[in-house]
Amino acid sequence: MTILVTGADGYIGWPTALRIAERTDDRVVAVDNFARREWVSEIGSTSAIPIREMEERLGAAKAKLDVYNLSFVEGDLTDKDFVDELLSVHEPDTVVHTAAQPSAPYSQINGERANYTQHNNLQATRNLLWGLEEHDLTDSHFIETTTTGVYGAPEFPIPEGGATMENQGERDDVPFPAMAGSWYHLTKSHDAANMRLAHQQFDIPISDVRTAIAYGTETAETRGDDYHLKTRFDFDYYFGTVAHRFCAQAIAGYPVTVYGKGEQRKPFVSLEDAVEGLARLALTDPDERPDDYTVYNQVTRAISIVEIAETISDVASEFGYDVAVEHFENPRDEDETHKMEIENDRYMDLVGEQAQSFEEGVRDIFETLTQYEETITAYEDRFLPGVLEDRIEEEQADADEVAAELD
Ligand SMILES: NC(=O)c1ccc[n+]([C@@H]2O[C@H](COP(=O)([O-])OP(=O)(O)OC[C@H]3O[C@@H](n4cnc5c(N)ncnc54)[C@H](O)[C@@H]3O)[C@@H](O)[C@H]2O)c1
Repeated sequence: MTILVTGADGYIGWPTALRIAERTDDRVVAVDNFARREWVSEIGSTSAIPIREMEERLGAAKAKLDVYNLSFVEGDLTDKDFVDELLSVHEPDTVVHTAAQPSAPYSQINGERANYTQHNNLQATRNLLWGLEEHDLTDSHFIETTTTGVYGAPEFPIPEGGATMENQGERDDVPFPAMAGSWYHLTKSHDAANMRLAHQQFDIPISDVRTAIAYGTETAETRGDDYHLKTRFDFDYYFGTVAHRFCAQAIAGYPVTVYGKGEQRKPFVSLEDAVEGLARLALTDPDERPDDYTVYNQVTRAISIVEIAETISDVASEFGYDVAVEHFENPRDEDETHKMEIENDRYMDLVGEQAQSFEEGVRDIFETLTQYEETITAYEDRFLPGVLEDRIEEEQADADEVAAELD
């Protein structure tokens, strides 16, 4: 048996590949094109936790975790020839697809990056789905981390999957409408639609895992070593997710800022819980998993912005940081009390109990980040947007000047 893990150099993909490889004797083939490293360096930032080269990561997996069944292939999943070769050589029984450009703000910088994000994410998924069909691998289980962002923020409780639509007295079950609010999030709505279609047309068993905002620095496997096994941690405006950015800001001496009431809740899952869910799905016996297109809401709890800020402030004080929570008038047009009720029964049945609470995750983050305070303060101007936008503007002005001189 072979399990393919795409995006295996990434925040979620790396610890997922480790967990799966640790739990099975089957071959685990990790794939990545290291694009995430380039995007973060393009916006002038860095992972707070230094990330080693893949060869060193794999060496540490052997030395510290006795993981000998994990190998790596470098390649771009938007390249159909690469994907065809990957699938025909390795013939995976399971694909855990975490590769994507996952930043909403990055996808919103300009049209070029919106195009890049949509092309990258959609083409990678299409190549894999069509590849499974064209290489006679339609029994392989395809698992993708989409996002809870595909649901937007509706007024009613979010179902785990589709919706019921009523029109002129008739009702039917339909896929959830694409209510995503960014060019990135919409790639996952489109992926969800393409996965449904691939299931309908090719009969591929599919798990569409709608991942919530992940928090934390550690999983059982990354704790196995102080350096080489760690996963990345971004804290800049584009790639740092909300709780991670707040923690880094607290370490750099900034207050945590809450706009308006801050009672609106966002869905969260710890890295540990996210990795466990993906590993369980990947390792489920084919006779026991759903043979269908199944949606899992990979969320353990919705947390309000105020609670996030206060938890971070409390945990920060345990580490000797005095972090104020400041309230400002909300510049955004948003419902400051949105409840974000979200069904997750199917996901919780899969993982059992939540393994790590938000507070425990924040404690892990502080434990890790206090070692890298210098890196965070050196890059603290990256908490705000603008660095890349300013450079794009300058480049455009230079190009205009050259064009004017040539005229
Ligand atoms: N982190 C979160 O909070 C979160 C929340 C919801 C959904 N997700 C989803 O989970 C997945 C993993 O997210 P993450 O936070 O680990 O992101 P990440 O950027 O750290 O990992 C994605 C990896 O995919 C690789 N990749 C991207 N395009 C590729 C391509 N064309 N070919 C080969 N490799 C490619 C990148 O180099 C990167 O290492 C993504 O699909 C993301 O959309 C993440």
